Amino acid sequence: MSDVDSVDENWEPGDAGDRSLIGDAFLAVVRMHRRLDVGSDGVDVSVRLVEVGDATALTELLQANREFLALWDPVRDDAYFTEKRQRVDLEQVLERHGQRLVIPYVITVEGQVVGRITVNDVVRGAFESAHLGYWVGQAVNGLGVATAAVAEVVRLAFTELGLHRLQADTLVHNAASQRVLARNGFIRIGLAPQYLRIAGRWQNHVLHQRLNDQWTPPEG
Ligand SMILES: CC(C)(COP(=O)(O)OP(=O)(O)OC[C@H]1O[C@@H](n2cnc3c(N)ncnc32)[C@H](O)[C@@H]1OP(=O)(O)O)[C@@H](O)C(=O)NCCC(=O)NCCS
Repeated sequence: MSDVDSVDENWEPGDAGDRSLIGDAFLAVVRMHRRLDVGSDGVDVSVRLVEVGDATALTELLQANREFLALWDPVRDDAYFTEKRQRVDLEQVLERHGQRLVIPYVITVEGQVVGRITVNDVVRGAFESAHLGYWVGQAVNGLGVATAAVAEVVRLAFTELGLHRLQADTLVHNAASQRVLARNGFIRIGLAPQYLRIAGRWQNHVLHQRLNDQWTPPEG
């Protein structure tokens, strides 16, 4: 698994792409803080449950990041990048949220939607486990947004949801996502050959997990 550890030595944080779609207030924050550090410098990186009304902001963000996300996502048709489809997808995911199968959040910085993070495939009983998935718009990559969002969702999953375990899987060459997981206490538990069909190809993935050391059985 030597390629799992490959690191791009020339990569520069906080200089990821076109920030023209980002509001002035957020731009000021980015200029002030090369790296966002929630808590110590007061930058508000938050997660909240998605709303159907997020379809507008998410469509804009997905259109701007279509090329960037194509490397890490299943192949998406043109309809996926329309507000109509995003609205339907949000309605469907909120319905599954009502069935307690998924917890879909948007990631916000200073109130502005910059990405999504989702607790998927919640299984109770002897497993008490779920899968974690996330993305952040390229314009704000490298600032610590995903690291902060994952930290918050791990906290929610282990406290409010009472889960015992979270699993997150990355492409073998997704160094940025592996950093995000390592910084949040996830450990590598294996390599799954041809695990997911990403960018049109069945691709190997590194599996990671984080256990809830404070887990206690639900009352009653
Ligand atoms: C992966 C992703 C969520 C990271 O979001 P982010 O907000 O930029 O993440 P953070 O800034 O919190 O942390 C990224 C870390 O990776 C590092 N990094 C980024 N690109 C890197 C690269 N090419 N090589 C090595 N390290 C890299 C950063 O330096 C940072 O590490 P540090 O905390 O030690 O400085 C974002 O790039 C993304 O959405 N990618 C596309 C979708 C995706 O891959 N989702 C995850 C699927 S498993």
